[in-house]
Amino acid sequence: MTPWISPSILAADFSRLGEEVNDVLSAGADTIHFDVMDNHYVPNLSVGPMVLKSLRGAGISAIVDVHLMVKPVDTLVEAFLEAGANYITVHPESTEHLHRTLSMIRAGGAKAGLVFNPATPLTVLPECLHMIDLVLIMSVNPGFGGQQFIESSLAKVERARQMIGDQAIRLQVDGGIKTDNIGAVAAAGADTFVAGSAIFGTSDYRTTIAEMRAAITRAG
Ligand code: DX5
Ligand code: ZN
Repeated sequence: MTPWISPSILAADFSRLGEEVNDVLSAGADTIHFDVMDNHYVPNLSVGPMVLKSLRGAGISAIVDVHLMVKPVDTLVEAFLEAGANYITVHPESTEHLHRTLSMIRAGGAKAGLVFNPATPLTVLPECLHMIDLVLIMSVNPGFGGQQFIESSLAKVERARQMIGDQAIRLQVDGGIKTDNIGAVAAAGADTFVAGSAIFGTSDYRTTIAEMRAAITRAG
């Protein structure tokens, strides 16, 4: 699958969010990663569906993948479907009925993602493969940007890749990805790379994204 580099808006300057999103897209980003935190499932608070709706209203038509770090999750799935999410990714811990939540996402016209925290085993993945379009392996504990990449995530990405095989399901990794480790993440089998601080924390988004893409190509 074509590799995607997805800047996480969590590290953007929120006072200029629309401009920041347009800047990373014109600098070569493939999609936008939209982190939603509720100060309950994770100890931080970010943005909700109204913000995505405003970005859509401002003409941003890029693929947006919404990473829901919220509990309960179903009401926000509905709201983000309405707001224009392309992918909606949920944690198995955030819903009592994962099958229902994943079904709602696809029934609402979006692609469904399933995300695993560093200590969450992949045990439910085989049961869900037929209902998802993306698997996300967290390489940090969710809640904050700018954390250190957890090295054991690489072996987990390899295990997820084995389970996915060549099915049309994206394998995304999120947390602590930088120009110097993105190659190893690609080599482990990922095709979709979230990076927040490593992109928005640099002054030249275009150069950073190009360096990341070169490292992915070298790993392939
Ligand atoms: C963490 C979020 C990540 C985060 C990544 O809870 O899900 O998407 O923004 O940020 P960096 O790339 O700075 O680790
Ligand atoms: Zn995320």
